[in-house]
Amino acid sequence: MTAIASSGEAGPVRLIPTAPVAVIEIDNPPVNATSQAVRAGLLTAIHEVDCNPQIEAVVIACAGRTFVAGADIREFGQLPREPHLPDVIDAIEACSKPVVAAIHGTALGGGCEIALACHARVAEPGASLGLPEVKLGLVPGAGGTQRLPRLVGLEAALDLVTSGRIVKAAEALRLGLVDRLSSGDLRQDAMDFARELTGQPLRRTGERVVTALDPQEASAKVAEIRRKARGAEAPAKAAELVLSSASLPLADGMARERETFLELRSSEQSAALRHAFFAEREVTRLPGLDSVEPRSVQKIGIVGAGTMGSGIAIAFADAGFDVKIVETSEQALAAGQARIADVYDKQVASGRLTAAAKDERLRAIEYAVGTSSLSDRDLVIEAVFEDLEVKRALFRDLDAFLPPGTILATNTSYLDISLIAAATSRPADVVGLHFFSPANVMKLLEVVRTETTADDVVATGLSLAKRLRKIPVVCRVCDGFVGNRILSRYRQQAEYLLEEGALPHEVDAALEAFGFPMGPFAVSDLAGLDIAWARRKRLAPTRDPRERYVDIADRLCEAGRFGRKTGAGWYRYEGGKREVDPFVTALVEEASKRRGLTRRQISAEEIQSRIRAAIVNEACKILDERIVERPLDVDVVMMHGYGYPAWRAVPCSKRTVWDCSRSSRR
Ligand code: 3HC
Repeated sequence: MTAIASSGEAGPVRLIPTAPVAVIEIDNPPVNATSQAVRAGLLTAIHEVDCNPQIEAVVIACAGRTFVAGADIREFGQLPREPHLPDVIDAIEACSKPVVAAIHGTALGGGCEIALACHARVAEPGASLGLPEVKLGLVPGAGGTQRLPRLVGLEAALDLVTSGRIVKAAEALRLGLVDRLSSGDLRQDAMDFARELTGQPLRRTGERVVTALDPQEASAKVAEIRRKARGAEAPAKAAELVLSSASLPLADGMARERETFLELRSSEQSAALRHAFFAEREVTRLPGLDSVEPRSVQKIGIVGAGTMGSGIAIAFADAGFDVKIVETSEQALAAGQARIADVYDKQVASGRLTAAAKDERLRAIEYAVGTSSLSDRDLVIEAVFEDLEVKRALFRDLDAFLPPGTILATNTSYLDISLIAAATSRPADVVGLHFFSPANVMKLLEVVRTETTADDVVATGLSLAKRLRKIPVVCRVCDGFVGNRILSRYRQQAEYLLEEGALPHEVDAALEAFGFPMGPFAVSDLAGLDIAWARRKRLAPTRDPRERYVDIADRLCEAGRFGRKTGAGWYRYEGGKREVDPFVTALVEEASKRRGLTRRQISAEEIQSRIRAAIVNEACKILDERIVERPLDVDVVMMHGYGYPAWRAVPCSKRTVWDCSRSSRR
């Protein structure tokens, strides 16, 4: 390679003047987003490549930890500034010399669109690619819906664009999204490839032809995508754009795509999803904890091998921790071991895990009877019966022999962690780590601190969440913390609606139409009604007699209806299918009579707005009491713990609070 004159420009894009293959390097930390300066720099560099006779081909590569991860989301609230990304990308594709993308890290959104317009793509084996725009309430806006189907075909493009699914390099190679995997030196491999392409006809993605789908099949696919989106509008719009690539010339398809992109960019759904994107990142940074060093944790002890304990063990084993799980008897231990093996067997059967990986995970988990074998652990988490005295006794026992500095965590969902901490001589080392069921699947982790929890213990909770690939929300002690406290208000409102005239399936249908994956009664049936019943019975003696208490769930339990596992609960289940049950309808109508209420037709809109108001009200109280530091903490809990549709303005956004106060004045 020889050096040629450089453009000499400072900025996030530079042309590295090697001949005959030059490199355009983008260096815009943290993720090389295509902010205005990057777009302008890329355009200038491509023009220079075109004009410079010493350059025969060029590689587009990135500095830092990733290829371009997309358009700069922070610019979305501003007026678009020239040059626009589609024009820059068109210029890349139109370049008269071969352009090869050298992909490491992630090529997402606009980054993937840059790669699609290059004449070839080389990726590191660990790289991933995708068009995740629908997750931000958008469609790809720089040719993604038009070029991707031209490269991988309509079926694969529909899947990727409408789901926002990100694929690893090996799958990208199989699909035809990348041409080669790098065997070591990515830039060199891309430069060699670029050299091979010189003198050959250029492979412009936009010039390729897409084979159309049968029209009926196409409309059935769009309908299915719309149904699955449960109200989010971007996926179906993206599907229509992808399908149009079979009939429209590139320029027309791109014009239509751009129009849809700009329309969605100013939509409330996209604003809500962008809020969610930044909230998920912000939530991990807690004011005051930035400079606090977490404790080093590798050896985890888990007390209790029930559903929760087993799920927690799997979550830690999956993240590479060394796990020991203890029980009070061999029998209970064997049941836990079988439960864990069953989860991994299912993952292997569905192809999500290899048999070798399963064996490795199973090897990471040790089993023992009695707590005494936990003395070498860095952190012990209890997942035993939800009873204050049981947990206090356990912590007293652990405190007696665990070395100083070992963190004691409780997975309680409701109990006062300060009282559990007070049973030990080390309250500063006690913290709540509240996993949501199934613990190995659900993303949310509430890190609950008491008045005495040490800052480095809270910081350890945050760093563990990161290693577990979970989203942590730090909160203080209150009944049910953030998630379950809001949930109980939400459920209470749902039960009031029953007494006033709605039926369980109507409440569920309204909330599923709102965007929740399942309504509250269907969720109850899935989770089982008996645990909440036991809790209500425990709390009965201290319940405020003035409280409006709906007893329909108690009556269901008295009739032995504990949900799906008993074949009946709020619904009856025949062959696994949920069906409205006249028994429940009669129970609900009797409850209205007992309360002296005349039943009335309740619209889906009223159901949705009352439930939303119940959530927002409780969220405001939680904020008032400083249970969490910021509104976004509550939003993240609702999205990741309870499936609150992120494309709706989330509970604590200004928009929701305004809506709810308006509907309560009606
Ligand atoms: N724009 C602006 N900032 C971004 C960004 C983007 N596209 N992507 C990431 N960032 C920021 C994050 O906010 C974070 O900032 P912070 O440190 O101040 O909180 C920082 O970059 C690092 O991000 P992460 O903490 O998420 O780092 P990870 O290493 O965990 O993940 C990632 C990296 C996989 C690239 C992840 O950030 C990601 O998924 N980013 C979004 C990708 C995306 O959605 N791209 C499409 C954008 S829309 C588009 O391209 C439209 C086009 O079609 C025209």
